[in-house]
Amino acid sequence: MKTGCSAGIFASFAAQRFGPIDRVVATPLSGGLESCGISRVDVTFPQRGQERGASFVAKRLWGRGLRELNAYRALDASGGPPVAPRLLGVHRETPDEAYLFLEWIPAARRWPWVDEDATSAVIRRLAQLHTRPVRNFRSGFDDPNIEREIEASAAETAALYHRLPLARSRAGATAMGQTIDRVAGEMSAMRAYLKAGTGIAPLHGDVHSGNVVIRAGAKDIDAVLLDWGRARLGSPLEDVSSWLQSLALWEPRVKRRHDTLLKRYIEWSGPAHRLDREFRRLYWLAAASNAMAGALRYHLAVTGDKGRTDAARNRSAGAARDWLRIIRRADKYWRQADGSGRRSVPLQNAVHRSATP
Ligand SMILES: Nc1ncnc2c1ncn2[C@@H]1O[C@H](COP(=O)(O)OP(=O)(O)O)[C@@H](O)[C@H]1O
Ligand SMILES: [Mg+2]
Repeated sequence: MKTGCSAGIFASFAAQRFGPIDRVVATPLSGGLESCGISRVDVTFPQRGQERGASFVAKRLWGRGLRELNAYRALDASGGPPVAPRLLGVHRETPDEAYLFLEWIPAARRWPWVDEDATSAVIRRLAQLHTRPVRNFRSGFDDPNIEREIEASAAETAALYHRLPLARSRAGATAMGQTIDRVAGEMSAMRAYLKAGTGIAPLHGDVHSGNVVIRAGAKDIDAVLLDWGRARLGSPLEDVSSWLQSLALWEPRVKRRHDTLLKRYIEWSGPAHRLDREFRRLYWLAAASNAMAGALRYHLAVTGDKGRTDAARNRSAGAARDWLRIIRRADKYWRQADGSGRRSVPLQNAVHRSATP
């Protein structure tokens, strides 16, 4: 065993699965502080007189992160096209800590998103997930604390914005500060309106390029969604806007082809729906919710982190400005609704008939 990370646990899972093991090598997969958090595990073992090899992923979950285990179990039980890696096993360390063992998905390319077909394959996967019956996901995806956490996260994003020089250095910064406070304060009403407008569906909840792999060696383009720790029931447009908006930050062609990609989602998710004014309004509300719940905060944090390179900070400052634009747009749509910033009558036009409970 190469690293000290949970050596015994990985080896005993491997032995259960493959029989006596010759060698186990664990390589950390993300460079985060928690270097034992997620590893690729390569094992070799004898089989019919030959040396065989196999790989799997081991991910340590604890506290709120244990939601990911519930999400995998719900996905496993729900059947349908494979949107996630296969769950191979679970080792429950304590009631508050577990290891997930997942299928290793070899990536076809490091950055496949220059190819529109790869970007579309993710949209198709999202449509396949969102049109699964909500009742199959009630146990794994329906955490009563999630809405509260999203609202708290939006308030933290607004607070961080005010602490950074970005909030003072630019023309219009005061107005932006007011907008961000207003959107944080209205988050709960906006999200209720959004969900009433689109209907609810099982969501991945954190769709960005770091959480998707295009599988190497597949006949057709096979997009696999990783990292289900924020899976929940919500508006399908949260996932769709998360994917398209986060990718558009780095991939200009996604920006140019935005409406074509959005139309593909509408087509693949079932019921006929036009890309009309109300659909767009809901889409931007979903995008602003994502920004406030995490995407903007992440880039604000990088922008203000003196430990990062200038290049990384500048890139994140640009991304933060894009998210701020989205928040401004959503705020404008929201306030246009009836002039008071509140809409009490939810829309009836469910985008996802099959996804409504
Ligand atoms: N099953 C898997 N197959 C291939 N690569 C994976 C798999 N799971 C995770 N990874 C890689 O590890 C990285 C971190 O995994 P992720 O589950 O997103 O952890 P985190 O919660 O730290 O973001 C991913 O961006 C991906 O590159
Ligand atoms: Mg991740």
